[in-house]
Amino acid sequence: MAEHYFTARPSASHRIREVREELRGRPFSFLTDAGVFAKRRVDPGTRLLIRCLPLPVEGNALDLGCGYGPIGTVIGALSPGARVFLIDVNERAADLARRNLERNGVTGAQVLVGDGFEPVAGTRFVLIASNPPLRAGKRVVYEWVRQAFDRLVPGGCLFMVARTSQGALSLARHMESVFGRVEEVAKGGGYRVLSARRPEHPPGPQSRQPPE
Ligand SMILES: C[S@@+](CC[C@H](N)C(=O)[O-])C[C@H]1O[C@@H](n2cnc3c(N)ncnc32)[C@H](O)[C@@H]1O
Repeated sequence: MAEHYFTARPSASHRIREVREELRGRPFSFLTDAGVFAKRRVDPGTRLLIRCLPLPVEGNALDLGCGYGPIGTVIGALSPGARVFLIDVNERAADLARRNLERNGVTGAQVLVGDGFEPVAGTRFVLIASNPPLRAGKRVVYEWVRQAFDRLVPGGCLFMVARTSQGALSLARHMESVFGRVEEVAKGGGYRVLSARRPEHPPGPQSRQPPE
């Protein structure tokens, strides 16, 4: 049976290659391998997402489902004041992400292996960015959105990219139902970048009063 890129321990023979990309006006170099997502080039959806991120950030930032780490590496490279976490369930991808942080001179970032937010239980973030694994099923991704709300500090933002043909519009509706508002910040090449902010203040008692 064909192996997915979200397998924990890919069995495909290694095929390390270097991918060079200019992102946010800076040159980056990434090692990729068989058995990881977007091994030939940085995914166009990921590129579009990276273009939209509000960088630099200060505080904790998270690249959820990091693959070989392009999103977290760029966040770290442009945000010397951030503590960046990168998480993936795929150990081979996580190993590459570690090497790619180092290759690109990013310090103050750490890569963790695990399922969703589980390795950072208790940590809150100013920014959560993800090109989520929609092929693993909407259920997983929708649960990430729900948990992201709780894991963001008030005023913190979630950025996600998805293919229009793989359910970006229903993902937008789900983000709106969880956060109250969603913004489509970019669209192109069949992808949409969606952003939602955790409100600074929870709804006050006034908004819960019944009309007179
Ligand atoms: C669409 S890929 C994006 C990879 C990378 N961020 C990029 O843009 O190139 C989604 C990633 O999510 C990871 N993933 C899938 N299920 C996961 C889970 N339950 N917990 C953590 N990561 C997961 C996959 O292994 C894969 O690397």
